[in-house]
Amino acid sequence: MAKRIIIDCDPGIDDAFLLAMAVASEELEILGVTTTYGNVGLSHTTNNALRVLDWLGSSVPVHAGVDRAILSSRVDAAAYHGETGLEAPEIGQPRRGAEAENAIHYLVRTLAGSPDKITLVASGPLTNLAIALRLEPSIADKIEQIIFMGGSTDYGNDSPAAEFNLLCDPHAAQIVLDSGIPTVMFGLNVTHQVIATPREVERMRALGNRAGRVFADMAEFFAKVYRERYGFAGSALHDPCTVAWLLRPELFETRAMRVDVETNSGLSFGRTVHDIWGLSGKPANAEVAIDANPDGFFDLLLTLLNRLN
Ligand code: RIB
Ligand code: CA
Repeated sequence: MAKRIIIDCDPGIDDAFLLAMAVASEELEILGVTTTYGNVGLSHTTNNALRVLDWLGSSVPVHAGVDRAILSSRVDAAAYHGETGLEAPEIGQPRRGAEAENAIHYLVRTLAGSPDKITLVASGPLTNLAIALRLEPSIADKIEQIIFMGGSTDYGNDSPAAEFNLLCDPHAAQIVLDSGIPTVMFGLNVTHQVIATPREVERMRALGNRAGRVFADMAEFFAKVYRERYGFAGSALHDPCTVAWLLRPELFETRAMRVDVETNSGLSFGRTVHDIWGLSGKPANAEVAIDANPDGFFDLLLTLLNRLN
């Protein structure tokens, strides 16, 4: 039986890769997609989720969430993803709009009413999930796992200390990490191992289908900042690591540890703090990805893109 999931995202180029892999996978059933501000503003991220899903031929409903963090001021990542968040002209405009029901109410209603547990995959700021948990704490009992891209056991990418998703809303991330829900975290320490090099981009193009061509173009657009700022050989495909782990957990090594988020202002604001030795006396609250198999990841990505037209 396919694993039932809800994806909370801020498309965003790497979010688009995540959506494509999930749609192409026969092992996952996407119940719904919720969108958040993040890479760009909420109206763009919501429109981009609709664009990608329509282009992939998926009628999965999209529910727009919140347009800002609980307390923090807004930042965005348009430098990486372009002003609209998805500069992919071949992926046109959607033929439908978002559902009328806000993402928070959709999450609470769907989880509360579900006869069995649902897995949440999050690839943007965690504000929607945090507010839903505050609105109706009992939904925690209906969440199988939360698998999120965010944080880092080493350095940041939007401040020296903090990764973008959690820098957007550190308070929301702490609420999620304190929820007691089984959580798997994919931080930059691992997602920076999954680089779409020119060789991997060429493999996408060599598929000879529309998906291979369009996602190769997106990976190349995304690579500009990674080459200029970090000297990487290509773009880091952060968000799809979450779905890749769901489908092939053996592609990653994880370790249970306590993770907290710095919510006090200052140099480390938004940083994840990893108590790998149990020095805090607090129980582990996350499985943290500590290593990846990039070749295996790209083999999976190519297999899934090849299933698309
Ligand atoms: O730091 C990387 C994360 O920030 C990814 O989710 C990317 O899409 C951006 O949202
Ligand atoms: Ca994202």
